[in-house]
Amino acid sequence: MKDSLKISGSCVFLLIGLLTGNSASAQDKTVKDGVFTAAQASAGQAVYDGSCKACHNMRFYRDTLKSWNNQPLVYLWESIMGTMPADNPGSLLLEEYTDVIAYILSENGFPAGEIALDPDNGMDKISILPP
Ligand code: HEC
Repeated sequence: MKDSLKISGSCVFLLIGLLTGNSASAQDKTVKDGVFTAAQASAGQAVYDGSCKACHNMRFYRDTLKSWNNQPLVYLWESIMGTMPADNPGSLLLEEYTDVIAYILSENGFPAGEIALDPDNGMDKISILPP
């Protein structure tokens, strides 16, 4: 009885090791890998039109993505959240900042996917690429 418990214990450790291995390879994700949903992008358009469009056009975001090449996407999210909209930084909901990033990515030609973009879950492992 005790022996079989021990065996299943080490199986759990093996499983954890495999899962950890998997999440390490998730580090290779980029904004090309369908990292936001179409619903987020369309919600983000409303946020963008209401809170960002007055000061920036899409050309500006193309240049931003270029200059953030290879940085984790969550850094851009934090930067936007901390400084934008310039006339009222931090005034949007966390979800609205996430949606607006989905919209910016989508407008710059990056594909939507099945899994929602989530700053608390893996967004530090998604690299920005130039459009
Ligand atoms: C009242 C004007 C204004 C509004 C509204 C505004 N911005 Fe900005 N934004 C600025 C200014 C000014 C800068 C800094 C100068 C520059 O880079 O043009 C800036 C810079 C940025 C940058 C560059 C950050 C970097 O470090 O590369 C991003 C990205 C950005 N804004 C996104 C947004 C988003 C997203 C919204 C809407 C949620 C928004 N801005 C709303 C004026 C504004």
